[in-house]
Amino acid sequence: MTQHTTDVTTDRPDDTTDTVDTADTTDSAEAAATRADWWHDAVIYQVYPRSFADSDGDGMGDLPGVTARLPYLRRLGVDAVWLSPFYASPQADAGYDVADYRVVDPVFGTLADADDLVRRAHALGLRVIVDIVPNHCSEKHEWFRRALAEGPASALRERFHFRPGRGPRGELPPNDWESVFGGPAWTRTTNPDGTPGDWYLHLFAPEQPDFDWQHPAVHEEFRSILRFWLDLGVDGFRIDVAHGLIKAAGLPDVGHPEQVKLLGSAPVPYFDQDGVHEIYREWRALLDSYDGERIAVAEAWTPTVERSALYLRPDELHQAFNFTYLMTGWDATALRAVIDRSLDAMNAVAAPATWVLSNHDVVRHATRFADGDPDRGLRRARAATLLMLALPGSAYLYQGEELGLPEVTDLPDEVRQDPAFFRGSAQEGPGQEGTRDGCRVPMPWSGTRPPFGFGPAEDGPSWLPQPAAWRDLTAEAQEGDPASTLELYRAALALRRAHPALGAGRAVEWLPAPEGVLAFRRTAEGAGGAAQEPGGARSLVVTVNLTGRPVTVPAPGTPLLCSLNSRAPGADLGGPGSDAVLPPDSTVWWAA
Ligand code: NOJ
Repeated sequence: MTQHTTDVTTDRPDDTTDTVDTADTTDSAEAAATRADWWHDAVIYQVYPRSFADSDGDGMGDLPGVTARLPYLRRLGVDAVWLSPFYASPQADAGYDVADYRVVDPVFGTLADADDLVRRAHALGLRVIVDIVPNHCSEKHEWFRRALAEGPASALRERFHFRPGRGPRGELPPNDWESVFGGPAWTRTTNPDGTPGDWYLHLFAPEQPDFDWQHPAVHEEFRSILRFWLDLGVDGFRIDVAHGLIKAAGLPDVGHPEQVKLLGSAPVPYFDQDGVHEIYREWRALLDSYDGERIAVAEAWTPTVERSALYLRPDELHQAFNFTYLMTGWDATALRAVIDRSLDAMNAVAAPATWVLSNHDVVRHATRFADGDPDRGLRRARAATLLMLALPGSAYLYQGEELGLPEVTDLPDEVRQDPAFFRGSAQEGPGQEGTRDGCRVPMPWSGTRPPFGFGPAEDGPSWLPQPAAWRDLTAEAQEGDPASTLELYRAALALRRAHPALGAGRAVEWLPAPEGVLAFRRTAEGAGGAAQEPGGARSLVVTVNLTGRPVTVPAPGTPLLCSLNSRAPGADLGGPGSDAVLPPDSTVWWAA
């Protein structure tokens, strides 16, 4: 069992590296990195490796690219990094189709690169979480290739869901399940002798056959894969489709048309079955057998936060993404309700709440909140982020949101790669037909022309084109500008470290506020509301004006940070004893 610990003398990566101010390697960061309960209030940054930073100029991001940018993340002020899959994969679903779970895809680098990334992250006080994809693999996975090649008698078919078709000649899929990406969830095989054969289940693309988790070999294999990465030193896992591993016995028809609405209220026989919990008990015992508080976070799309909480009972997983929160619009009543309900649900199982606004599967929140006006979208996105970062629990950020990146909504069809685009699961939405390439466009780092420092060459490729307008949104362009989104995130994360009350505890104390405004107090638990926080504040008050007009309230204290400008929070806000005018679509943190 290896736990890599701090080694600040590791070589710094080369020219693409931001320098780290050693003074910035603060005691509090070091302390946070070694805290046993680090995940209770951690801010975790999602890196989507193919779109983060490209070290070798092939147009695709890679692990050495991530490693070179770790100092940027350290400076941003996050606690941990979650890496989307970088394993050997034909990339039919951007790496969520895994052919070998113990091999790094050459596109992303080598196992030595993964090892280097983990060590350097630890040296900087950052934890590393990797993605694990247990619901399905790639059609190129050895078990599946052999299951097909060996024909109907292959014992390996029992590790997947192979079934005869319906209809006189087996020409109809075994049941009515639909793929999340559109079309039937079944594909018919051809027998080695060329005759039509059985069908296999794939809840996602046909290139992603579902494992049958009733088979003990599947359990054994995944325990071994978890150990492989834990031994390499990772701090935890994000579990892909954690709600999908167990299917209802007999694979019954759904029988209604609502089946793939992920947060729909209608239960389906392939998601959120009670049997999944046994698997996570097994995994928790394994995680607990390692030192250093290794964690697992569930990607579990369930109909309610209460159902999600079941994954977080004390002997199961540590966290689950709060997709109900992510799907909530810019509306004071709805947000307050989802915050309360999430906290209640998590408190019932003694788990920390989590909060998330963007990821690689959804339209970026700067665009979701825009209602057609990009400036309004960015204003609200910044305000939403300050709201999220003041809630008790752990928060997830998605790469590029700290630059205020919007969704790219005009990608030409010929560059599209999302399998959902080709299989027609298009939905209504502010993105490009609701599919996912628009939130995956490579990061703009520097310079004035694409690829904006994404790769080493000035005119080099990027796997998706970046809009020319991103010249104003590069990390370089925003550096040092107090009005920039990057500096706002840095200021917010620094304050969150300095004021543990912001992420602490299990509840928010709501304060009276005018319609369309949320106001709440955050006090470090156990301090009885009277402890002096570092920075002088006893507690913090957060105000969120969700209306499109200025709202005047008695100033709750001294302004610490306003979502409009990181360095001039107090400009028009007044202070104790005076009135404050809360700007439209803004959040303010007050020392009070
Ligand atoms: C959820 C992942 O986040 C998504 O990107 C992927 O397509 C599906 N699971 C299938 O693995």
